[in-house]
Amino acid sequence: MNKIKIPKNRLRRLKTYSLGRKPYELQNLNRGKIKNNLIDLCSNDYFGLSRDNDVIKASYEISLSEGLGSGSSRFITGSRPIHKLLETELANWLNKEKVLLFPSGFQANIAAVQALANRNSVVIADKFIHNSLLVGVKASGSKLVRFVHNNLEDLENKILKFHSTQKSILIIVESLYSMEGSIAPLKEIAGICKKYNVKLLVDEAHALGILGPEGKGLSYDLTDDITMITATFGKSLGSGGAFIACNSKIGEYLIQTSGAFRYTTALSPALAAGALKSLQKIKSNKEWGINLLSESKKWKKEILDHINFPVKGDSQILSIIVGQEEKTILLQKHLEKNGFLAIAIRPPTVPINESRIRLTIRRGLNPGILKNFTSVLKSFK
Ligand SMILES: Cc1ncc(COP(=O)(O)O)c(C=O)c1O
Repeated sequence: MNKIKIPKNRLRRLKTYSLGRKPYELQNLNRGKIKNNLIDLCSNDYFGLSRDNDVIKASYEISLSEGLGSGSSRFITGSRPIHKLLETELANWLNKEKVLLFPSGFQANIAAVQALANRNSVVIADKFIHNSLLVGVKASGSKLVRFVHNNLEDLENKILKFHSTQKSILIIVESLYSMEGSIAPLKEIAGICKKYNVKLLVDEAHALGILGPEGKGLSYDLTDDITMITATFGKSLGSGGAFIACNSKIGEYLIQTSGAFRYTTALSPALAAGALKSLQKIKSNKEWGINLLSESKKWKKEILDHINFPVKGDSQILSIIVGQEEKTILLQKHLEKNGFLAIAIRPPTVPINESRIRLTIRRGLNPGILKNFTSVLKSFK
């Protein structure tokens, strides 16, 4: 095995938490704990559905009839009615011809890129796309070119550079970026892709359930101009697993050729049933996403009023940009000492000198929590 080449101060330690008493609390189970119950300001379980009784019940009940695990791949004996049900419900909700489930978003992203790009392709990707998409690009053997985050001019210039070559072009973006909380100008990006007749893959991991009409994501109104979307059940749906949505032709291509789809144990029926129940809850609580975004606006404003660091984010994800790594870690510790769990995000996940505290605003955080949080921030020296 190769020697680990990571500087000592960047080595990460795995920590363990259990659920706390309140829906937004976690219990810190790590040695040297300072305060037991922490307010969770970093998980992506935006609506708290991972601990929702109806979701857990649906998951439990299907396990009794269909098993906890599916026992094999979709092509052997792993396909269950719940998979079909969830795929159909998602396809109808998102107005897509085909939805295919995957055991994780990481895997779905690899499959998605491999289906749309190969050795003869150029992938032009936003500078901040998720690691799983980059792994997909590598697996596809295509050439990778990055464009400046959310910069339409740079995107168009990069397309123009390769447009006259024989290579096929795939553009990859996220609709909502996980570390910036920034939203992609998706309509304009889709317009550029249409103009040059190039493919567009959009990862909706953090947007699903929250952004777009009724939480259907930002791709929803642009269906005809987007080649494929991916999203995970591990965030707003509070479950696990993921899906790809596309047209029937590409869907069939994936079924017949994707190793990431074929050679893996099918998504657990329990997670599929949980995701389906969560989806139904999101559908019948259309205001959840809107409320979360307006709550997050309040948090951003209040935080900006109390500290001198810039705050990024136009969504339920906010980033307090501290800059220096060491200082960011000190702020994380200060918050933790005062009952808040918000993780320091450092290079290589974010650029050097842009270390930050990433906050996720979650359903159920009351105004008292915000007041307390800002006064703790204010006391950071
Ligand atoms: C933007 C984005 N895409 C994909 C993934 C991977 O999803 P999953 O956790 O289901 O593997 C993540 C998770 O961190 C993500 O943030």
